This record gives sequence, structure tokens and C-alpha cells, in this order.
Amino acid sequence: MRLADKSAVVTGAGSGIGRTAAQRLAAEGAAVVVSDIAEEDGLRTVEAIRAIGGTAEFLACDVSDEQSVTRLFDDARRILGGLDLAVNNAGIGHTPARLHEMPVETWDQVLSVDLRGTFLCLRAELKIMTEIGHGSIVNMASNAGVKNAPQMAAYTAAKHGVVGLTKNAALQYARDDIRVNSVCPGTVATPGIAGFPDDIRQTWADLIPMGRLGTPEEIAASIAFLLSDDAGFITGTNLLVDGGLMYD
Ligand SMILES: NC(=O)c1ccc[n+]([C@@H]2O[C@H](COP(=O)([O-])OP(=O)(O)OC[C@H]3O[C@@H](n4cnc5c(N)ncnc54)[C@H](O)[C@@H]3O)[C@@H](O)[C@H]2O)c1
Repeated sequence: MRLADKSAVVTGAGSGIGRTAAQRLAAEGAAVVVSDIAEEDGLRTVEAIRAIGGTAEFLACDVSDEQSVTRLFDDARRILGGLDLAVNNAGIGHTPARLHEMPVETWDQVLSVDLRGTFLCLRAELKIMTEIGHGSIVNMASNAGVKNAPQMAAYTAAKHGVVGLTKNAALQYARDDIRVNSVCPGTVATPGIAGFPDDIRQTWADLIPMGRLGTPEEIAASIAFLLSDDAGFITGTNLLVDGGLMYD
């Protein structure tokens, strides 16, 4: 699955799945632009990649902001000399709440980062990839993109949107040698879920047929596979990496 001589951008790469995915792509030989809204976290990912002899640069970006995304991909293309691979991973969750009690601000914030952010990045990546004539993209969905996440209406709606957007983009660009897939993790032990109360996290682990949370490394491996030429005939797929949760 070597990704030598490939160039990649990973958003939300300052933590959790994004950081681990950036490290995995770099370990496979790709030159990686590590992007995140949190500068210090992103720089730590770059340090970790360089420490193992990989190639990485940090570029700050708020994926929900159009100008910020335009700047990210202009700069990334210049630094990388192109763009072969992209992982649209940046995303946020929200405090569980019954829908009628959910603040409108929560809805707007989650849709803006998780769905609008994915759209803005995808749009910028496809502009570059149609020009250079190839590419492979992975969007970060979630188990909440294919089934209900209890009391997480905004997150469920946003991630269902990511799955739909992935299929749409995959078919629009299938004849441009650009593949677009999504990954649907079940619950994964990352800093992103560390803020939830212990009892909620335990409930999530108990819900998974394999009886444990996933690891960021397991998700990163699936991302690397979908990006690689080993997945050359796969586009529009939504890969479940969820310990069996979907079919329980
Ligand atoms: N952890 C899980 O159980 C799980 C399960 C399914 C899907 N996911 C998805 O995987 C992705 C990563 O999740 P994680 O658990 O690693 O989260 P995390 O919180 O550990 O990392 C998310 C990163 O995204 C960055 N980010 C947040 N808002 C941003 C913005 N507006 N612009 C740019 N960067 C921004 C954060 O600074 C952080 O570094 C998310 O899209 C999440 O929805 C996570």
C-alpha cells in the first residue's frame, strides 16, 4: 500500500483520527500537509511525523470558512507541487439533547464544520485534481452517517449528508480518475470523545458487538487503503469500520 511520491492534505490532523491518519500516510511515504484550526496541536503532529523521518508541513485552516479553505489549498498545492490525496476529517460532535431542546446554535455549528466544511474542502480539492488529472479523497463520515446516534440530531444529519455528498462526488468525477469514498467509524477512543462522561462512553463500548471501542490506528489503516491504488476500483463506497455496530 505504499504511498511514496504522493502528496496529501489531512484536515483536523491535530488530534485523534486525523493525527493518526496523517502519521500513517507519512509512514507510507506521502508528503503531508497537516491542517487544523488548532495550531499548536497541528504543529505537534508535524513534529511526530518528522521524528520518524516523514515529510510534513502545517497549515492552519477553519474548514467552515470559505476563505480559509481557499487559502489552505492554494498554499498546499504550492508547497506540495500538486495534490494526489485528501482526507476531509475535521469534525465536531455535540452534547446529546432531545431535538426539541437542541439550541439552534448547536445545529448551525455542527452542520457548518461537519457538512459545509467537507463540501468546501471537497470543492477545493476537486478543482486541483481535475486540473492535474487524478486524485483520491476520503471523507470522514461516522456510524451516525448510516444509522441513528441517540439524541445527536445535528451530528446524525451532518454525517448522513457527508455520506450522500461522497456518493454524489464519486459519480460526478468517476471518469476523471478521481475516486471519492467515505469511512464510517463506530466509536473510536480519541480525545474527541474523551470529554463525554464515563457512563456514556461505556454505553457506547457496550453497544459495539466486538465489545470495545475502535482505535485511531484501525481507522487510519482503512483511510490509507481507500486512498491507495490497492483500492483502485473503489469509488462512492462508505466503508464501515465499526466492530459490527451497523449490523447489530
Ligand atoms: N472518535 C469517534 O468515535 C468518531 C466516530 C466516528 C466519526 N468520527 C469523526 O472522525 C473525525 C475526527 O474525530 P476525532 O474523534 O479524531 O476528533 P478530535 O476532536 O480528536 O479531532 C478533531 C480535530 O478537528 C479539529 N477541528 C475542529 N473543528 C475544526 C474546524 N472548524 N476546522 C479545522 N479543524 C477543526 C480539532 O481541532 C481537532 O484537532 C470527525 O469528523 C468525527 O466526527 C469520530
